[in-house]
Amino acid sequence: MHLNFRNYKTVRQIAIGSYGTVDLVQAPSGNLYAKKTLDGRDNFGIGPKVLGARFAAEIAMMRKIHHPNVMPVLASVTGSQSSTYLMPFANRILWSELKRDKIDLDESIKILTQMLDALDAIHEAGLHHRDLCPANIVGISLPEKPIVWKLTDFGVAAEIGAEPGLGRRGCGRDPFAAPETCKVPFKGTAKSDIFSWGELAKALLKPRMSEAEWHKIEPVVDRSRELKSRGRYSNIHALRIALNKVVPGIF
Ligand SMILES: Nc1ncnc2c1ncn2[C@@H]1O[C@H](COP(=O)(O)OP(=O)(O)O)[C@@H](O)[C@H]1O
Ligand SMILES: [Mg+2]
Repeated sequence: MHLNFRNYKTVRQIAIGSYGTVDLVQAPSGNLYAKKTLDGRDNFGIGPKVLGARFAAEIAMMRKIHHPNVMPVLASVTGSQSSTYLMPFANRILWSELKRDKIDLDESIKILTQMLDALDAIHEAGLHHRDLCPANIVGISLPEKPIVWKLTDFGVAAEIGAEPGLGRRGCGRDPFAAPETCKVPFKGTAKSDIFSWGELAKALLKPRMSEAEWHKIEPVVDRSRELKSRGRYSNIHALRIALNKVVPGIF
């Protein structure tokens, strides 16, 4: 799709990330979108060329996935210092909702289920995300409709098993990033995202469940977040089977 979205009116800045800025923008139609722009800051010391290539790779990877729980790229411009891409605007950001204690157990379970679906689609495409964490999970909430949670930010994503390359040495956020993705040679597998899912499950479920409920699911969560990847489930399907054994029909 060709959209001249560069001229959309900036309503406000949403976030300044590690190498891009996310703005809320408005199209002439009045519709709101989020726009992420490479902003020339180089917190990794890798130079503008590599930063540009890395940003283009982020967009290319996002474009490979078409799934309701993965943030789509609606339009993009690359190849210049001001590379940028347009996304649907998400009016809920999990990280800030957790800070304000706005997420209950039912919503937590929905988020975890939708992130299993998102990871499944990403792994199917031969990629792993490497940065599943509350700051990268955003929700679109429309009147009278259930919230749809989307995994965004493919800034440190990579092909499964490949060394990330393009200066992509930074890994995801502590405690969510799998240990193997944060050390040389920075490789990872689907199991690396399973680690992050396990950490997310612990963060969301443990404080919101009764002790009895948590004890049922804890062994599966703990196996997902084993420090050594060989101890974890090998794929999302195996993780789902294990979850269904301890808490049938929920995930
Ligand atoms: N489509 C979107 N709608 C609303 N907010 C978004 C959207 N995409 C990203 N954000 C917000 O901007 C922040 C930074 O974007 P992100 O892509 O995660 O960049 P970074 O690589 O800097 O972490 C996110 O943590 C989220 O809070
Ligand atoms: Mg992010």
